[in-house]
Formats: sequence, C-alpha cells, structure tokens
Amino acid sequence: MSEALPPIDTAKFVAAKKAVEYVEDGMKLGLGTGSTAAWMVKCLGELVRDGLNVVGVPTSTRTAELARTQGIKITTLDEAKWLDLTIDGADEFDGELNLIKGGGGALLQEKIVATASDQMIVISDVSKQVDRLGAFPLPVEVIPFGMKITQALIEETLVSMDVAGQKVTPRMDGQALYVTDEGNHILDLHLQRIGNVRQLALVLNQIPGVVENGLFVDICDKVIIGHSDGRVQTR
Ligand code: 5RP
Repeated sequence: MSEALPPIDTAKFVAAKKAVEYVEDGMKLGLGTGSTAAWMVKCLGELVRDGLNVVGVPTSTRTAELARTQGIKITTLDEAKWLDLTIDGADEFDGELNLIKGGGGALLQEKIVATASDQMIVISDVSKQVDRLGAFPLPVEVIPFGMKITQALIEETLVSMDVAGQKVTPRMDGQALYVTDEGNHILDLHLQRIGNVRQLALVLNQIPGVVENGLFVDICDKVIIGHSDGRVQTR
C-alpha cells in the first residue's frame, strides 16, 4: 500500500499503521483529525473489518464521516465517559512532547478528547519535529461575539509577555471567517518561537472570548514519527 504513495503520505501512513498496533480489542478510542489521522482511521477500519471490536469518539465531523465509511462504530464522549487511547496528528511537537495542534481547525474537540484519554499517541511525519514550538502559527479558538476585542486582548498579552512575532490573523475560509465545528472562529498567532509554552497556554485561556488554544502541554504520551522511506521512530 505504501509503495504507490507520494513520500509524504508514505511517512504519514507508516506512522498511522504503527500506531494502530497499540489498539486492543474492546478499547474506546479518540479519533483525531487531519490527513495523518485520516490514515489512522483507514488502518483502524481494516482491523475492524477483520473483527476488531472498538468504539471511536471522533474529534470532528470530518473524522466522524470517515469513521462511518470505514465501518468503525462511533459514539459521543459523554456516552463513552472515558477513553483508553487517542491517536491524532500534530502541527508541531518538541522534545518534551508538547504540541501545536489545530491547523485543521479541530483543536477544541481534539484537546477535550485527548485529555479524557488514558493515553495520547501522536502520529507525524518528521517535518513536524522542532526544537522549539512556534514556527507553525498557533491556533486559538474564540467565540464570534466581540472577536476583534478578543484579538486586541491577545495582542496586548503577547506584547506584555514579550513573545516574538506577535502577528495575529483571523483564519479565513475563502472570503468568510473560518467556522469550527462548535460555531466559533480561529485566530492564528504568528509567534515564530514560543519561550514558555506552559505559561502561554495558561495565559491565553484566561482572556475572555478565548475558548481554547492549540498548545497541548503534558497531554501527549508518545509520538510515532514516520519517514518517507518507510522507517518509523517512537519518542
Ligand atoms: C487538526 C489538527 C491536525 O492534527 C494537525 O493539523 C495535523 O494535520 P495533518 O496530519 O493534516 O498535517 O490539529 O486540528
């Protein structure tokens, strides 16, 4: 299957294939969002069609649709109550397994689901590995009401914290503001480099209008890194 793929997809596929080896019969699973997570859902679908019995909680409508087409049973997080394992992609990860997520706009459900799991495994190609988070714009989900004020408060906060870059841009979907599954919008924070990830994650969430930010600190347990030559590393 991997031989016919473009190199980047081979890397994503081999990471996803490795990750589903951690899935056991009877598990309740968090199903991530994005192109790498989509490979995982497809790999999981194959196992389900071979008799594996699992139930998944999708982190977006996109993933829910894909899981259904793969024949994977899905439920809500409230129904599942707690999950054994979440497998998801990331936009960046550092040496401490802190993440930036939300490039695909699903950070809110992704963070809730990962936090409600015994274990979170991130699957990634090697390009997402960084020494310091921040080159990828940090997504922050905000409610539509007073969004420009929320943006100004975020900008002020970044200045006071002396975070590099500090450009904040509303995410667009064509001519319109991007709308998340929860009916919110996303502000992308162009920071270049985040010094204190833990502090920034806490401070951002104290700003009125901010629903959640895309920094995942102390949530990820393992990263499986796929390479375009088919090699896989685990951190
Ligand atoms: C979606 C996410 C994705 O996991 C992240 O954007 C990585 O996506 P991809 O695997 O397509 O590179 O956080 O909100």
